[in-house]
Amino acid sequence: MLNWDEFHEDETAVAEQPKPAPAPQPAAEPRADAVREEAVKESAGRYAAADEDRLARARRSLEELDVAAGLEELEMGAARIEVDDKQMINARADLNQLVPFKYEWAWQKYLDGSANHWMPQEVNMNADIALWKSAEGLTADERRIVERSLGYFSTADSLVANNLVLALYRLITNPECRQYLLRQAFEEAIHTHAYQYCVESLGMDEGEVFNMYREVPSVAAKSAWSLKHTQSLARPDFNTGTTETDQELLRNLIAFYCVTEGIFFYCGFSQILSMGRRNKMTGVAEQFQYILRDESMHLNFGVDMINQIKIENPQLWTPEFQDEVTQMILEGTELEIAYARDTMPRGVLGMNAAIMEEYLHFICNRRLAQIGLKEQFPGAQNPFPWMSEIIDLRKEKNFFETRVTEYQVGGALSWD
Ligand SMILES: [Fe+2]
Ligand SMILES: [Fe+2]
Repeated sequence: MLNWDEFHEDETAVAEQPKPAPAPQPAAEPRADAVREEAVKESAGRYAAADEDRLARARRSLEELDVAAGLEELEMGAARIEVDDKQMINARADLNQLVPFKYEWAWQKYLDGSANHWMPQEVNMNADIALWKSAEGLTADERRIVERSLGYFSTADSLVANNLVLALYRLITNPECRQYLLRQAFEEAIHTHAYQYCVESLGMDEGEVFNMYREVPSVAAKSAWSLKHTQSLARPDFNTGTTETDQELLRNLIAFYCVTEGIFFYCGFSQILSMGRRNKMTGVAEQFQYILRDESMHLNFGVDMINQIKIENPQLWTPEFQDEVTQMILEGTELEIAYARDTMPRGVLGMNAAIMEEYLHFICNRRLAQIGLKEQFPGAQNPFPWMSEIIDLRKEKNFFETRVTEYQVGGALSWD
C-alpha cells in the first residue's frame, strides 16, 4: 500500500520552521532571475544544486523551443472538436482529445474490460501441479491437449498484441477506440503471462512449448495464417485512404478479431474447459476461463469496429469483397478443424474431432452473421451449450468455485 506519511513529515518540518517576516510588496514585477536567486537563497543548504552548466544548457534549449511549430500539426486555434468530426478510419480530427465521445460502445467496453481485471498469480495451481506430475493423473491424450493448447496460445496472444500495437493502432483514428485497444493490448500481455505461468508451474519444457508455433504443423498453420494478415499493415509506409488500403485494413480486422480470436481459440478453449468441468487441471482451466471472457469482449469490440467502418464506408463492402472475406472465415474454420483432428486422434473428455467440427461450423456461422455475411453451414448446432454459459459468466460467481472474490485494486492511498 502506498504511504504518504513521509511527505506529510516533510511538510510538517517546513511548517515548524520560523517564518521570515513578510517582505514588502514590490511595486513592479520582480525580474525572473531575481525570483530565482531569492528561491535559491531560501533553499540554500537543504539539498545540493544541479550542475550550473547543465541547467544553463537546459534553459537555453527551452528558449529555442518553438511551441507554435510543435503544435502546428494540431492546428492551434482551430475550432474545438465536434462529435461529427470523429470517424473510425481516415479521420482528420485531433486524436489527442478523448471527448466528446462518438462511439459510446467503445468507451463502455473499455470500462467493462477494466472492471474484469485479473492476474494469473491469483489462481491456485497446486492441484494442477500434483495431477501433472503424477504418473496416472492424466491420460496421454489429455496431456497432449494441455501441451498443444499452451503451445498454440503462448505465442498466439503475442501475435495478436503485436498486430494491435505495431499494425492496427495508428490506423484506427478514433480516441475512444484507441483507449480500448490499449486496454486490450494489456489484456493480451496478461494472457501471455498466464500461459507462461501455467508452463512454469507445471515444469514443462519451455523451449518445446514456445516453439510449437513453428514446429508442430497444425499449430504452425494457424500462426502462419494470422501472420500473413498482419504483414502489409505493419509496413511503415502502409496507410489507409484508398479503397484498396481501407479494404486491407478490414481484412486485418476480420483475420484477427473474427478468425484468430473468434475461431482459432475455440477448439483449445473448449477442450481445456471441458477438462476443468471434469475436475482436472482446474487451475489451468480457470486461467482459460478468464481469458475466454476477455477474448469474447475483444471479439465483440472487433465486430463493432468492422460494422462501424462498413457504415461509414459502404463503398468498401462490395459483393466481391464480401465473397473474399467469407472465404477467409471458411479458411480459418478449416484450419481449426485440422487442429481439432490433430489434438484429438481419439475421443477424449466427452468430445471428439467430429463433434468439434460441428461446433466450429456453428462458430463459423456466428462469425459470418456478426458482420452481416451469409451463414455457410445452415442448421449447424452448438454441441457445447456450456461454453456459452462460461463466456457469459460474471466474475463474482466462479465456474469452478475455486475463486470467489471480486478483484480488488492492489493499493489504496492512505491520507492519514
Ligand atoms: Fe488474448
Ligand atoms: Fe484477444
